[in-house]
Amino acid sequence: MTLTAYLAHLDFKDQLAQELKNIKACYDRLFLCEGPYQESIWAQNTWFHPEFIEIASIGDAAKKLKAKQRNWAPYHYEHKSRLNLIAEALPHVSAKRITFDAPLPTQPMGGFTLVEPNLLLAASRTSSPWAHGSMEFVEDKTSPPSRAYLKLWDLFTRMPIRPGKNDLCLDLGASPGGWTWVLAHLGAKVIAVDRAPLQNDLMEHPLVTFKKGDAFKFNPKDNPEIDWVFSDLICYPEKLYDFLLPWLSDSKQRNFVLTIKFQGENPYAILEQFRSIAGSQIIHLYHNKHEVTWLLFHNPT
Ligand SMILES: C[S@@+](CC[C@H](N)C(=O)[O-])C[C@H]1O[C@@H](n2cnc3c(N)ncnc32)[C@H](O)[C@@H]1O
Repeated sequence: MTLTAYLAHLDFKDQLAQELKNIKACYDRLFLCEGPYQESIWAQNTWFHPEFIEIASIGDAAKKLKAKQRNWAPYHYEHKSRLNLIAEALPHVSAKRITFDAPLPTQPMGGFTLVEPNLLLAASRTSSPWAHGSMEFVEDKTSPPSRAYLKLWDLFTRMPIRPGKNDLCLDLGASPGGWTWVLAHLGAKVIAVDRAPLQNDLMEHPLVTFKKGDAFKFNPKDNPEIDWVFSDLICYPEKLYDFLLPWLSDSKQRNFVLTIKFQGENPYAILEQFRSIAGSQIIHLYHNKHEVTWLLFHNPT
């Protein structure tokens, strides 16, 4: 039987439980499911082909895990002190923060936990090279005007696509300018739209044009040259969806990165509407809070 396990983001355990099919066991926020990989919005990390491994002792557990591969991240569920002792007997795993644009780790990261004192659940391969899918960056605490820049660093670290020097980006709901700061640093030109201005240095940045006004008035007919549409607008998801439709039916194919912020109790119906747009996907970035990110890439570079 094929097994796959999914680790929920800290605040989204219930959402992951609702999303997954064929849940066989639940270890707090780790869900073990029968069957192959299921696409999931709410999993922060996925464990591929986890196995139950009987162990006779802490040393035996470490020996069995080391025989499979080097890097293991313990997931603390129960039997925590025993799990810590096993982790201490394994090779050291660096907990260094990620430098944006540094080469990605090449070695896989496994995940393991103790479901009983003498029974491990372990997967040598997980979907992230970082422990539990966490993406803690070496932050820039001086230049970006808001911490929202971490969402784009997160996205451009996990996806092999980003705007470059020849691209023109529309950044809707741009103030105070965290996203515009990232995009301009990548060398892209940015039209930043908000009712409030950007941080001063960005208002004068040679790659940035600030337009004060209502973002929802921007349409593809008046802005044919746009290659990428970014939105971090605080608005009802339904309003964002309606705004998107003319952009999707326009003849020019563009890339889209839109934050969908949850305003009401139950966003599932509208999330399904977004998800059903051909070729698109929804992810919950490590740096997303009560929101998800909708993506559509037409022109991978
Ligand atoms: C979460 S903040 C964006 C943060 C920004 N992405 C950054 O990186 O600094 C949301 C922004 O949306 C703007 N906003 C909301 N509705 C808007 C509208 N209809 N037109 C223009 N801006 C709007 C707000 O003024 C606010 O600055």
